[in-house]
Amino acid sequence: MHASVKRRTFIAAAAPLAALAAGRAGAQATQPPCVPPRTADVVYEPTPLGVVDTLVAAANVGARDVVYDLGCGDGRFVVAAARRGAMGVGVDLNYKLLEWATANALAERVDTRVRFEGRDLFTVDMGPASVVTLYLLPELNLRLRPKLWKELAVGARVVSNAFDMGDWVPDRVFDVPTRYRRAFLWTIKPEHKKAA
Ligand SMILES: C[S@@+](CC[C@H](N)C(=O)[O-])C[C@H]1O[C@@H](n2cnc3c(N)ncnc32)[C@H](O)[C@@H]1O
Repeated sequence: MHASVKRRTFIAAAAPLAALAAGRAGAQATQPPCVPPRTADVVYEPTPLGVVDTLVAAANVGARDVVYDLGCGDGRFVVAAARRGAMGVGVDLNYKLLEWATANALAERVDTRVRFEGRDLFTVDMGPASVVTLYLLPELNLRLRPKLWKELAVGARVVSNAFDMGDWVPDRVFDVPTRYRRAFLWTIKPEHKKAA
């Protein structure tokens, strides 16, 4: 991972998912980034690759999935999902990280199945996602929770490295070799849609 960027490959205005599905677009250059819309809510710290693999497997990610990583960093969750046949969307406010993500997708030859967007994760329509991956902060998870319940379909999975979702009881808790020692998996259920 962390392949160096030999040319400006960041996607500012990414291809729509339908185009990705048709294999017509991917992690390729469009317009270079200008100024991030605002500063990030949490600093970058990558999820260890082994933990990424554990969580992507636990969410049973496969070719029918669309995986969104909200605050994607170097794109490792999205790339791991795409390697399992899924399509992926990564969102981050740090444009340098998005350059890495794009380079990583190219290096792993999954660039036709992913896209990266430089935007605030709270503005993302999560409707197309069947899996959402997170490594943020407790208060950000709590702010996201109503949006996850509202926008995701029943059966969609949410995984979070390190931080829980308040009183939303997870389906599974993982003991992982990270600073915070824990990761979580939830599934959207009909009662969440009613409560949204
Ligand atoms: C702890 S890192 C996790 C990176 C990656 N998901 C992983 O697990 O390796 C959090 C990321 O969220 C991004 N971020 C923070 N606030 C954001 C926001 N409001 N919108 C989009 N990205 C944000 C940061 O730039 C950072 O890359």
